[in-house]
Amino acid sequence: MKKLLSFFCILVLNKMVSAQSTIIPIETSENALVLQTDQENHLGIIHFGKKLNHSFEYSQISKAFDYQDNNSGIYHSVYTPGGTWSLVEPAFQVLHADGNTSSDLMYVSHQVQQKNENVSLTTIILKDPVYGTEVSLFFQTFAKENVFEQWTEIKHQEKSSIQLKKYASANLYFVAKDFYLHHYHGSWAKEMMPEDTRLTAGIKTLDSKLGTRANLYQPPTFMLSFDKQSSEESGKVLLGTLAWSGNFKMDFEKDSYNNLRLIAGINPFASEYTLAPNEIFKTPSFIYTYSENGRGEASRNMHDWARKYRILDGEGNRLTLLNNWEATYFDFDEQKLAGLFKGAKELGVDMFLLDDGWFANKYPRNSDRAGLGDWQENKKKLPNGIGYLVKEATKAGVKFGIWVEPEMVNPKSELYEKHLDWVIREPNRPEKYFRNQLPLDLSNPEVQDFVYGVLDNLFTKNPELAFIKWDCNAVTYNAHSIYLEKNKIPQSHLYIDYVRGLYKVLERLRAKYPKVPMMLCSGGGGRVDYGALKYFTEFWVSDNTDPLERIYMQWESSYYFPSIAECNHITDWSKVGIKYRTDVAMMGKMGYDIVVAQLNPQELEFSQKALKNYDKLKETIWQGDLFRLVNPFENKFASLQYVNKQQTKSVMFNYLTIDRYDMNTLLEPVKLEGLNPSKKYSIKEINVFPGTKPIYDGESVYSGEFLMKIGINPKLNHQRSSVVIEINEQN
Ligand code: GLA
Repeated sequence: MKKLLSFFCILVLNKMVSAQSTIIPIETSENALVLQTDQENHLGIIHFGKKLNHSFEYSQISKAFDYQDNNSGIYHSVYTPGGTWSLVEPAFQVLHADGNTSSDLMYVSHQVQQKNENVSLTTIILKDPVYGTEVSLFFQTFAKENVFEQWTEIKHQEKSSIQLKKYASANLYFVAKDFYLHHYHGSWAKEMMPEDTRLTAGIKTLDSKLGTRANLYQPPTFMLSFDKQSSEESGKVLLGTLAWSGNFKMDFEKDSYNNLRLIAGINPFASEYTLAPNEIFKTPSFIYTYSENGRGEASRNMHDWARKYRILDGEGNRLTLLNNWEATYFDFDEQKLAGLFKGAKELGVDMFLLDDGWFANKYPRNSDRAGLGDWQENKKKLPNGIGYLVKEATKAGVKFGIWVEPEMVNPKSELYEKHLDWVIREPNRPEKYFRNQLPLDLSNPEVQDFVYGVLDNLFTKNPELAFIKWDCNAVTYNAHSIYLEKNKIPQSHLYIDYVRGLYKVLERLRAKYPKVPMMLCSGGGGRVDYGALKYFTEFWVSDNTDPLERIYMQWESSYYFPSIAECNHITDWSKVGIKYRTDVAMMGKMGYDIVVAQLNPQELEFSQKALKNYDKLKETIWQGDLFRLVNPFENKFASLQYVNKQQTKSVMFNYLTIDRYDMNTLLEPVKLEGLNPSKKYSIKEINVFPGTKPIYDGESVYSGEFLMKIGINPKLNHQRSSVVIEINEQN
């Protein structure tokens, strides 16, 4: 099939476009998704890419295409119905009340609501002409950030319930010569491992069927390059992610024109959803941004959007902390903790975070084999309760935060003994555990109350609690709900109702405790998505805190999530010196998981100064623009740079990633980005380990032009394996 026209204009067969067809342009400041009805009133996508300056010209797009075969007008449907005229992967499929399996969707109307000068919402109503099933498509655009947020609502007025078999959030259509998918896989401690695939004919699926800890093997996040592979600074690229904390499915289907259909949403696997008349089924949002200037720009747009519109308190403050997980594991008591509080203060962090192991009495939580679910302080370890710890921490001069995993239960617990009916399990099959535990059934409102209560009790008893780490360590085996069974609700609702139950709990919590910072953790990064991040201030990308591994993980994660939300901790996971560990952790929300008393005097002095540096730089790191200068996947080192929005402050991080004899001397300078060419900047090496000399002492001043056209050399080598450079405007 001959591909006409430039990139991204999409087909509609000439004969199907009438003079009266409706054209709906959905635009951001740079881009547009343009829809048009055909003669039968089906709505298709005719353009996705750069917007046109004169929107009246959108009506000319279809005429420019000459696809003339039976597939014309089928592939590009804005929401492909199943069971009638389209034979490709549907976005929408229904079993009607009378047993019929066919669906069609015709355009009915649309409206545009300008919410403010940046945000606008286009709502489109489609209807099945035979059954009246109504599908509303919502496209919310964030003009300046070039972000699209898309979701769907489905309802009907049949005599009795219908069954939804497919109910995508988004169904998009792209035209290009080639498509390259950059996606992720992994496992515990191996999160965000990237993989590149040139898409070929057929369907490539990214999905999860793991339930609770849905992202353990794959996150609902990807990058799609058009025509050729994009780079940081060039190429056409879309970043996409589904805002849903459960099973997801994304189908990338290449059609017979070699164009690409994308269907993204909740995974319909084992999840047929029964919908009563007039009830509304709302899908989660699919969020995407598109740039023709490479991945860097796309990711900066995503960051701006996420900070402003999605992550809780995204433009606010964060607390540095000392966590005791790797320092003590389950082995601690009041005295030991009080000692650690002092360490936190000495180090100079804002808060102490008490991790797992503080609760349960009949089956004490002394390992991950028992006690989960019994949220009473363990009397032996904490005879004076959490209240005492909060007081002691306050006395020591730090805030106090706590770990919970309220969605889960160990079979060895009082909760399990009392409430077997709250546990997700197949009553007639042997239980199967993941980390010796099982998820509670959050489709059950009583369980929702219980989970809410765990947090509410903690806050009620300890109003000074400053932070929550919310964990979720098991996947969902044997997905069966006693609650749904008792209430004659189909089991196929469980995966969806679980996530909805979780969101209800989080909504309630946020109504009462709107600002308390909460970390989203799931045995590392098993649950990181913009559905949950509405309620959380930050997330834990991985339990793997080896700084070398982190450089790669953080690199990938940074495409989708801004640094302010990513918790990076300095731990003893690796034997690499504390400077390297600290420098890597600084590119996010910094924390520690070490025993401060075990640091030698130089390490302590270094860490105290590093925290002070971080305090000066955090605004730039959290709210500034990120430029990825040197890619560690392609080089023997990594360089990244943050620049504040005023272009007055910047910080550059450099890490040697391959340390081979005589191979790692950096011969050429690294070009900076994002500065103002006509401003002058001083260059100063910071986070210098006691006893070593900085190469840049803050005396040398360069123009922004020089720094961006020629660059600076961080002079990485075996002795200088990580180098942090502060760049400040000079007047
Ligand atoms: C998970 C988390 C860790 C820690 C442990 C506690 O693995 O990712 O950070 O909190 O649970 O059991």
